[in-house]
Amino acid sequence: MVNGKRGTVDFTDGQGRHVVLDEITDGNWRAVADVAPADDQRRFVAALGARYLLLSMRGGVWNSLAIRAGDTVVGHVMWAYDEEGGAHWIGGMIVDAAEQGRGVGRAAMRALTVRLAALPACREIRLSYHPDNAPAARLYAELGFAPTGDFEDEEVVAALAV
Ligand SMILES: CC(C)(COP(=O)(O)OP(=O)(O)OC[C@H]1O[C@@H](n2cnc3c(N)ncnc32)[C@H](O)[C@@H]1OP(=O)(O)O)[C@@H](O)C(=O)NCCC(=O)NCCS
Repeated sequence: MVNGKRGTVDFTDGQGRHVVLDEITDGNWRAVADVAPADDQRRFVAALGARYLLLSMRGGVWNSLAIRAGDTVVGHVMWAYDEEGGAHWIGGMIVDAAEQGRGVGRAAMRALTVRLAALPACREIRLSYHPDNAPAARLYAELGFAPTGDFEDEEVVAALAV
């Protein structure tokens, strides 16, 4: 939902909760670290948000964000800029198993693509997903991401022109 008056963009899930991307803080990092996919989704992503938080802290490449719905931390997502390829990347997308299927993933992805597209250097947003990860493939396709034909660590690379 776009609020033309203030030029801001609001994103809500299926329960009407505002879905917001927060920086990682002293107040939310524990909840982000505890975000977990369903057991059978662990072949697609890390078993806990903690893994991605540490990657962001230690690697100097990725930037983790908390996904909050209303007052509750419900997920993790991260982004990076690949100077060599000139693209922004999204990774580490997990909506906690108990919160899936409520529109949080779609709202969070919309919020992040709008946020990245507003960066001056942003021309293209890329991400990758396991070929068997049908829910993720469907969500990303719905948001306009199209497979590039490239693969990264055996994952399908998809891109959205900005
Ligand atoms: C993929 C994921 C982020 C989607 O988040 P979510 O909050 O459950 O998704 P939403 O409720 O916003 O649904 C948005 C769209 O995603 C797709 N989707 C979500 N769950 C799905 C499912 N079980 N089967 C098929 N499509 C699904 C649909 O296109 C859906 O739109 P629709 O409801 O109109 O059909 C979430 O399932 C998740 O965290 N999975 C485990 C980790 C993972 O695979 N991350 C992606 C790594 S690339």
